[in-house]
Amino acid sequence: MPAARLTLDPAFVVASLDRRLFGSFVEHLGRCVYDGLYEPGHPTADAEGFRQDVIDLVRELGVTTIRYPGGNFVSGYRWEDGVGPVEQRPKRLDTAWHSLETNEVGLHEFASWSDKVGSELMLAVNLGTRGVQEAIDLLEYTNIPSPSAFSQQRVANGADAPFDVRMWCLGNEMDGPWQLGYRSAEDYGVLASRTAKAMRQLDPDLELVACGSSNRHMPTFGSWERTVLEHTYDDVDFISCHAYYQLHDGDLGSFLACATDMDAFIEEIASAADHVKSIRRSDKTMKISFDEWNVWYVDRYHDVDRITAVGEWPVAPRLLEDAYSVVDAVVVGNLIISLLKHADRVRSASLAQLVNVIAPIMTEPGGAAWKQTTFFPFALTARLAQGEVLKPALEVPAYATAAYGDAPLVDAVATRDPDTGAAAVFLVNRSVDEAITVTVDVERLGALRIAETHTLADADPFAANTLEDQERVAPAANDSARLDEDGVLTIELPPVSWTAIALTR
Ligand code: AHR
Repeated sequence: MPAARLTLDPAFVVASLDRRLFGSFVEHLGRCVYDGLYEPGHPTADAEGFRQDVIDLVRELGVTTIRYPGGNFVSGYRWEDGVGPVEQRPKRLDTAWHSLETNEVGLHEFASWSDKVGSELMLAVNLGTRGVQEAIDLLEYTNIPSPSAFSQQRVANGADAPFDVRMWCLGNEMDGPWQLGYRSAEDYGVLASRTAKAMRQLDPDLELVACGSSNRHMPTFGSWERTVLEHTYDDVDFISCHAYYQLHDGDLGSFLACATDMDAFIEEIASAADHVKSIRRSDKTMKISFDEWNVWYVDRYHDVDRITAVGEWPVAPRLLEDAYSVVDAVVVGNLIISLLKHADRVRSASLAQLVNVIAPIMTEPGGAAWKQTTFFPFALTARLAQGEVLKPALEVPAYATAAYGDAPLVDAVATRDPDTGAAAVFLVNRSVDEAITVTVDVERLGALRIAETHTLADADPFAANTLEDQERVAPAANDSARLDEDGVLTIELPPVSWTAIALTR
C-alpha cells in the first residue's frame, strides 16, 4: 500500500481563514430560484413562498455568502423589474438561458431569503447591457438611507432599512462572447473603473470585484487580467475567477487531479495581479474572488439541454441538473482544499450553484429536497475548518495523468483555531484503485485527541443520490484513524476518497 506523510506546524500559517470562502451562488437560471428555493405551493413553503426544507439544508450546508442574481443572467437584467408589487412586475426574455423571467423573486425577496439561511448577500451589477447610471441607481436603492427617489422607493416597497450589501461584482464574465454586451479588456477595464469610482461616491466602503477571465482557457487569459487591473487596480478589492471541471472520456485519474489545475490557475492570477502591482508601485495586494467553481458536465448542457427555438421561452426549465457521483464529491472536496491552500490570496469563493442547477441540493416540485454527494465535503469543511489555514508539508508519491502530467496521489490541508487549539485535517486519495496510509505529524499542535472522522468513499465511485434513492451516498466514520502518544496520527484512505479529521484538546 502506498504511504504519504503530512507534517503540520502552528508556526507555518498560510492565512487566517476568511469564512467567505464558504460562499455560494444563486442565479436566475433553470430551477435554482423558481421551483427550487421558491415554490409557494410546496407543503413546506413559508408565508413568502420559500421552501423551509431547502432553507434547512442551506443552513446545514453552512453557506456564508451568496452571490446573486447571476451569472450570465445579470448581463441582461433590469433590477427595477424585480421590485414593487409582484403582480405588476414584467415578464422578460432571459436570453442567457432562453427562458421566461417572471420577476416574482427580486432584491427584496432574495434579501429576505438570505437572512433566513443566515448568509450575507453579494450582488452583481449589469455591465453587459447597462452601465454606470443603472449601477448607482441600484446601489442607491440597496444601500443608501436618504430622502432620494430610489431610497424612498425601497421604503415604499417595504424595506425601511437599507440592505447594506458590502460586496459587489462589476459585471460577469465580460470577456466571454456568450455574455450579453461582452467587451474587450480595454473597454471593460475603463467601464469597471468608472463604475467603481461612481459607486464609491455613494458608498466608499464597498468591496468591489472586477471580472477576471471566464476561465483559464480563454485566449486572453493573463493579458485580460493585466489590462483590466491596469485600469482598475486602485478602484477594486478583488479580481474574480471561475473554473468548472468534468470527467472526460472516463479518465478518472485526470479528473481526480483537476485541483492541480485550480492551484495553477490561482497562482497565475496572483502573478498577473502582482505584475500590475509592481508596475504601479502599489502597496496594495489584489485579492481573488473565486466566485464560480464546481464540477459541471457542461457538454451535457450544450448537447442535450440547451434551448434555442425562437418560440420556446419556458419558465424555470430543467437546466444544468447534474446528478453528482462519489468521484464528483471527491473532486469538490479537493477543490475546497485548493481554495484553502491559497487562503492568503483567495479571500472569497462561491460554489456555483446552490439549488438544482449544478447544485449540492436538489428538489422536486411538491416533493422532496435532498443532498447530492457534493453537499458533504462542503458542509463538513465549512463546519470543521476554523481559525487559520496551516501550510501542508506533504511527502507523497505521484501518479501519471493524461491531462495534468504527474500529480500527487494525496492532497491535503489543515486548519487550526489559535484560541482553542482545535485543528482539522482534510485529505483526498486520488488513486482509482489503491488505498493509501497517511501519517499526519501533529505533535507540534500540542496534545490533541481525535474528535470526529468522516470519509466519503464507495465501492462504486459513480454512486449518486437521486430522487429514487436520496440517501444512497453519505460519509462514514473512518475507524482506521488512530493518534499515538508521540503525536503521530495514522489513517487509511480508501481509493477515490475524501476525508476530514477533527482534532480537539
Ligand atoms: O454557473 C453557470 C454559468 O457559468 C454562469 O451563469 C456563468 O457566469 C458561467 O459561465
